[in-house]
Amino acid sequence: MNIVVVGHVDHGKSTVIGRLMADTGSLPQGKLEAVKAHCAKNARPFEYAFLLDALKDEQAQGITIDTTRCFFKTEKRDYIIIDAPGHVEFLRNMVTGASRAEAALLVIDAHEGIKENSRRHGYLLSMLGVGKVVVLVNKMDLITYSMERFTQIRKEYEQFLSLIDIKPLGFIPVAARLGENIVQRAGWYSGKTVLETIESFAKEEPQDRKPFRFPVQDIYKFTENNDDRRIFAGTIESGAVRVDDPVVFLPSGKRSRIATLEGFNTSARREASAGSAVGFTLADELYVKRGEVMYREGEPEPRAGTRFKARLFWLGAFPMVKNRKYKIKLATARSAVYLAQVSLVIDAVSLSAHHGKAQIEKNDVAECALETSKPIAFDLATENSALSRFVIVDNYEISGGGTIISMESEETSLLRERIQNRENQWERSAITDIERKARHGHQAKFIVITGDSVEFISSVARALERGLFDAGNMAYYLGDSNLNLGLDTDLTDPSELREEHVRRLGELARIMTDSGQIFIVTLTECDAYDREILARLNAPYEIAFIAIQRDSLEPNSKAVLAISPDVSVAEAVESIGRYLQRESIIADYTI
Ligand code: GTP
Ligand code: MG
Repeated sequence: MNIVVVGHVDHGKSTVIGRLMADTGSLPQGKLEAVKAHCAKNARPFEYAFLLDALKDEQAQGITIDTTRCFFKTEKRDYIIIDAPGHVEFLRNMVTGASRAEAALLVIDAHEGIKENSRRHGYLLSMLGVGKVVVLVNKMDLITYSMERFTQIRKEYEQFLSLIDIKPLGFIPVAARLGENIVQRAGWYSGKTVLETIESFAKEEPQDRKPFRFPVQDIYKFTENNDDRRIFAGTIESGAVRVDDPVVFLPSGKRSRIATLEGFNTSARREASAGSAVGFTLADELYVKRGEVMYREGEPEPRAGTRFKARLFWLGAFPMVKNRKYKIKLATARSAVYLAQVSLVIDAVSLSAHHGKAQIEKNDVAECALETSKPIAFDLATENSALSRFVIVDNYEISGGGTIISMESEETSLLRERIQNRENQWERSAITDIERKARHGHQAKFIVITGDSVEFISSVARALERGLFDAGNMAYYLGDSNLNLGLDTDLTDPSELREEHVRRLGELARIMTDSGQIFIVTLTECDAYDREILARLNAPYEIAFIAIQRDSLEPNSKAVLAISPDVSVAEAVESIGRYLQRESIIADYTI
């Protein structure tokens, strides 16, 4: 069981853990004596915290900077105790520590009383969904073990916790430095000690009764010895699944059936459930990307979309602002994300709410709308927390995190706004589309050829360009790398580069179609959303998607023409030509 210890700076978190370790005999042989001797030699008073605060800086300043993990075991079970820092500067580390925890000990100094981070940490526990919370009122020795003061702190803090939906499992008066009520009961207190309390924590309700969720971590393709298995690997977040179950991937909407279940170094099984790392093979050959979520048909579906409302806490050095690109990580999905709207900012200490703020400051909690640059699959916090938690990365650093509380309509998307803005400002030519069409003898068209084989689709595109040109049309094929090599970008992440590539293609297509040309490009691994983006960017002109691939198309693929990859280049060009003629894009078909 993972337990995190949180609370305000210096309230005694590390001491609680040090004592717990020492008094249960969990420290390595001689460690206690060595640290004591070291302190004596340097003429410093011994601190139990030194048993944990391993970093030199931490000992010098007497504070915890990063989370430390300690292990100990009782007859009942093994524990991982996470020591979180209490200083507000290290909230990020506290969150990282707490996000892995099943239960929390929240430490409050009896003498100092409830401080900012006593509240803020409480709030974050509630947001992270750490439901089991026990409050330790520490340093009872400093208030001469006053039961009255203890009760007062208990009342006050209980009230705060009730506002954020945490029902504490108990309040324990302790003096960690003296080891009182940690492992050994002391004074007037007759309830459970800290050790007895954590021993009594019930294990999390098993996740395998929830709907099946499998975020795709990786796809392994085996090619040796005619082995053409494609294994979808990852960890089951919730639920269970069996061989032969019908499954669906989101956001693509692709469907198949579980063919086999492959374990790592285990023999084949027929079912697997939450928590296990597995690989699946499917009955159909599907191209599914990392980050998609597999669910079981018939069970409640995850959501999929680009816009949702979230409760988010911000830890970044700079405020979270609109129009800046951040990165979101949700299960295995990664995407660029923008702050679309701030509904409400909550002060996690006073719980007061502020409306009308445009940005989210450091240590603020906010309710806001976020928009990803491509659809991701998720659940709502109230439905299935595993797929509702996310973190926001800014400049390679985790700068915020939160949970999704509702799905938002995409009617008011930032992309739509951007395109509308572009159209409003578009300088319209004095030459009309009709004049151009009359001159060229054909309509303008953006043709996107998608498929699995780069060589094949570019040969088709090249031959199509030649055919159309020879027949007297204005056709232009843009080579795959021609667009990006000339235009500078500081993006390095392949998925961001790809996104930018698609965006540039769409913008360029808008210009090329406006000029009356038949503009041909190729794109591999094109999914429904890429098609949607291209279509939106190219509007008001229409787009023709030609798919030359083995894999079945997504339910909403938008492709106007599907061609088998087994045909020859000439045959493929022939079918595209016939399509163009059928749609009256070109006058007569003579390629
Ligand atoms: P950060 O990690 O920096 O947030 O601090 P912390 O919460 O881990 O506090 P730490 O355990 O380092 O203790 C802070 C100080 O409080 C140390 O000097 C401890 O010796 C002292 N302290 C801890 N428990 C008790 C106690 O029960 N009584 C008294 N009198 N002092 C205590
Ligand atoms: Mg500490």
